Amino acid sequence: MREIILAGNWKMHKTIEEGESLVKCLEEKFKDSPLKVIVFPPFTAINATAKIAKKIKVGGQNMYFEKEGAFTGEVSPIMLKEAGAEYVIIGHSERRNIFGEKDELINKKVHSALENGLKVVLCIGEKLEERNAGKTEEVIENELKKDLDGLSSKDITNIIIAYEPIWAIGTGVSAKPEQAEEVHKFIRNLLDERFGDNVGENTTILYGGSVKPANIESLAKMKDIDGGLVGGASLKCESFFEIGKFLSKIKGL
Ligand code: PGA
Repeated sequence: MREIILAGNWKMHKTIEEGESLVKCLEEKFKDSPLKVIVFPPFTAINATAKIAKKIKVGGQNMYFEKEGAFTGEVSPIMLKEAGAEYVIIGHSERRNIFGEKDELINKKVHSALENGLKVVLCIGEKLEERNAGKTEEVIENELKKDLDGLSSKDITNIIIAYEPIWAIGTGVSAKPEQAEEVHKFIRNLLDERFGDNVGENTTILYGGSVKPANIESLAKMKDIDGGLVGGASLKCESFFEIGKFLSKIKGL
């Protein structure tokens, strides 16, 4: 059975002190919740927040695929793990579009994360012009194919997919539940075709892009949406908790 997950991507927000206080609040709020909750602080706050986090899981927002070396400004999977991360986001659209990451690099990162014992949240999604040109499925299929190249069905048990339509990220305009569901189902079918072994059915697929307390219920009612990857609304304890409360209720946890 796939897990229902609420993930918070803090992006370039929160000092160490702010991160600690947010995690303390989330620990308190979610302590009796059956939901799996993961936060992704900036690198500088991973260690401090991971020390406080018990119920809440912690991950990194990015990593490089090498273990160590002359790679100024980069962080390795081993360093992330040592700091207390269990997860890592790979291929976020901001990494792809602002920092020019290509699928080939993303694929190397996915392999390296898994080899080094991190679980991966792999982000995929189309731009507005691609959606308008009827290319959503083509983009998703292409990203999935390249990003997951060389992996086995067993590897996929350590991967969570996040479908994040780029036009919905940080814009306040979420995808309509039916639009997101259609893509989630498409992703599940692709995973089944490619890996067999019920991989599609068993993989957690999160929706991301302007998720907030006001829209999580309608999104979570969709059977192929297994939770959310939340940016802006994960920065405040109350709004993130509200999302979690609605998500658990709709999924019957
Ligand atoms: P948002 O970001 O919730 O602020 O739209 C989501 C994400 O980029 O993961």
